[in-house]
Amino acid sequence: MSSGPQSNRTRVVILTADPAFEKSARAIFGVSSAIDLVIEQGSISGQGDTLSVEGASVVLVDLDAGNDAEMAALSRFMTRLGEWPPVIAATQTFDEGVARTLLQMRIADFLVKPIKPVDLVRACARVAKSRTGGGQPTEAQIYTFLPAVGGAGVTTLAVQTAMLLLNSSGRRSKPTTCLVDLNFQHGAVADYLDLEPRLNLAEIEPRPDRLDRQLLEIMLSYHASGLAVVAAPNRPAEMRLFDPDVVTRLLDLVSTNFDYVVFDMPRTWFSWTDSVLLGSNKLFIVSETTVPALRHAKQLVAAVKERLGEGPKPQVIVNRFEQRMFSASLRKTDLEQTLGDAFAGTIPNDYALVREAIDRGLPLDEVKAGNKITAQLKKLILGATAESNAVAKPVPLLKKLSFSAAS
Ligand SMILES: Nc1ncnc2c1ncn2[C@@H]1O[C@H](COP(=O)(O)OP(=O)(O)OP(=O)(O)O)[C@@H](O)[C@H]1O
Ligand SMILES: [Mg+2]
Repeated sequence: MSSGPQSNRTRVVILTADPAFEKSARAIFGVSSAIDLVIEQGSISGQGDTLSVEGASVVLVDLDAGNDAEMAALSRFMTRLGEWPPVIAATQTFDEGVARTLLQMRIADFLVKPIKPVDLVRACARVAKSRTGGGQPTEAQIYTFLPAVGGAGVTTLAVQTAMLLLNSSGRRSKPTTCLVDLNFQHGAVADYLDLEPRLNLAEIEPRPDRLDRQLLEIMLSYHASGLAVVAAPNRPAEMRLFDPDVVTRLLDLVSTNFDYVVFDMPRTWFSWTDSVLLGSNKLFIVSETTVPALRHAKQLVAAVKERLGEGPKPQVIVNRFEQRMFSASLRKTDLEQTLGDAFAGTIPNDYALVREAIDRGLPLDEVKAGNKITAQLKKLILGATAESNAVAKPVPLLKKLSFSAAS
């Protein structure tokens, strides 16, 4: 190797005040020539503000999650680091509240002591690898839902999709997922999930550049599942047009800070609509099972294609579909014929279930596990994603470790 062995070593920085943990970390990582292990002795409240993370691929912070000062110091530390390097927390105590707080701080993973060596290596390998390929933090996969007509079910399907994506991988830590309600005037996402909307556009508008990760964090609401939500409080009597720069800035920020982003779009075409659609990886138009709605859906497909050109292809989901054998209602073949290759599929009608979920502020699966709406949506949304997730890439750090152990 001409560039020398130093150049491609993976730097793991560990902050711990626990001699036993330090010893086991040295035993695990110290033997590998591929790992550049830096151990700082101390606590996050003492060392967090000055700890150097330069060149680190991953930082592991050993802390007492039951200690408020340590959690506050960790939060400051995360803000200082920004998007890179990823941080893993090792804690003694653990409960749902701790998990939620760590998730909100965007901790990449957490481990509960005593930690098995294999779990420590796996966690480090998983979070460190996201940089090894590209260099930049990964861009989100963006799923956008557009209505063909009012009340077609955009919000319902956007909420369920976000939940599916959040729980889409078999990994121990969930992919970070953000649901953004772009119906600034009559949003329903926060209500459907029983959350307090916290997006304050008026505060951002005078200086969109002020909107950074920290300010975004303040404007996010979190569902108990870990789903992050961007939604504004409703102002029914106010018709406001927001500066497209504000919206674009918001989009940039969410797409660089989350693995998955789901947009609930309004019916009105705003000046920022094109950029949202262009930035999307998947574009779904939600229609009802009526002739006028399908007609609108078809027109919208054509309009989007014309405006986006080579951009993402709009796919129509026909919601509240009922297959009746002997009736004059629309059949699947009618839908296929009308929509051609823009037809993605149907979602069954189950008003009692959807209404209960909305009224209780819960995802459908929590009201009725294994329900048909979620099952069908999973097929439509995750069909392609699940396949690409299944092909797991080799894990560089793990490979390096096993090489060094073998040699
Ligand atoms: N698959 C479904 N089966 C039965 N009812 C459904 C289904 N999907 C949505 N609904 C119902 O349709 C109504 C409208 O749903 P939703 O609010 O999701 O639509 P929307 O397109 O976001 O509406 P808006 O135009 O107001 O934003 C709700 O009462 C919801 O309960
Ligand atoms: Mg809606």
